[in-house]
Amino acid sequence: MHESDLIRHYATIPVGTSFVRPVDVLHLLQSQPIAAKPRVFDVGCGQGQVAIALAQAWPDAEIIAIDISPEQIAKARQAATQAGINSIQFGVADWREFDLPRSGVDIIVAAQVIQFMPDEHAFVEYLADALALDGQLLLRSALLPEEEPGRSFVEQVVQQWIAHSIRFYSERNLTDLLRECGLSRLRIDKEEMWLDNLPAERQASLNRALQQHNLGIDDVQQWFWAGSIVGVRR
Ligand SMILES: C[S@@+](CC[C@H](N)C(=O)[O-])C[C@H]1O[C@@H](n2cnc3c(N)ncnc32)[C@H](O)[C@@H]1O
Repeated sequence: MHESDLIRHYATIPVGTSFVRPVDVLHLLQSQPIAAKPRVFDVGCGQGQVAIALAQAWPDAEIIAIDISPEQIAKARQAATQAGINSIQFGVADWREFDLPRSGVDIIVAAQVIQFMPDEHAFVEYLADALALDGQLLLRSALLPEEEPGRSFVEQVVQQWIAHSIRFYSERNLTDLLRECGLSRLRIDKEEMWLDNLPAERQASLNRALQQHNLGIDDVQQWFWAGSIVGVRR
């Protein structure tokens, strides 16, 4: 998919949209000791809810939050102002052209971003290299089943839910990737994506896939997971 399509798509995302619950991100990060004044990088920050929650949790943190979409950053700046937060440095930027401080960062959040990267290895390597010693990288995405037929079924349905093409990973794909990029002490926080309360359009495409494969919702619920995986640089 062309980048300009992605940017156009993110210009249409309604105000207040977050693709992750900030409280879950905070909770997972806090299960490891954190510097008193952490340096934080939120890549593909969207409308900034995670960055804002981190700024509220750590008022002395130095937080840089970037997104390739100018509209998403405008909404993030507005949300931060409304929350009374002025400590976040928001920027419109593509991570491929963004230089992070050489001293290293303590926390990196990449929530629902890896699936847009043409080269996921280069992406995670860039992030892992940017971490200070004992720094944490949190990656969040949908988690595909390892086995068929669940893997293809979830890939088909989730791709129909999203307005642009994305890549898909299982828990093992992501943990292997973090390890290959030199991170260890992996932790994971994952949850089922509930299929009983979907917006109408998503429900309709799920129903079509169920019909096509002659399956019921109880057959497929076990295949739908999303999660955050954290790795530490040692
Ligand atoms: C699904 S949204 C997730 C937003 C936010 N992290 C959240 O969880 O709510 C993906 C975001 O990644 C951004 N993005 C995609 N490619 C990017 C790139 N190369 N550099 C920076 N941001 C990018 C998109 O503009 C979009 O806002």
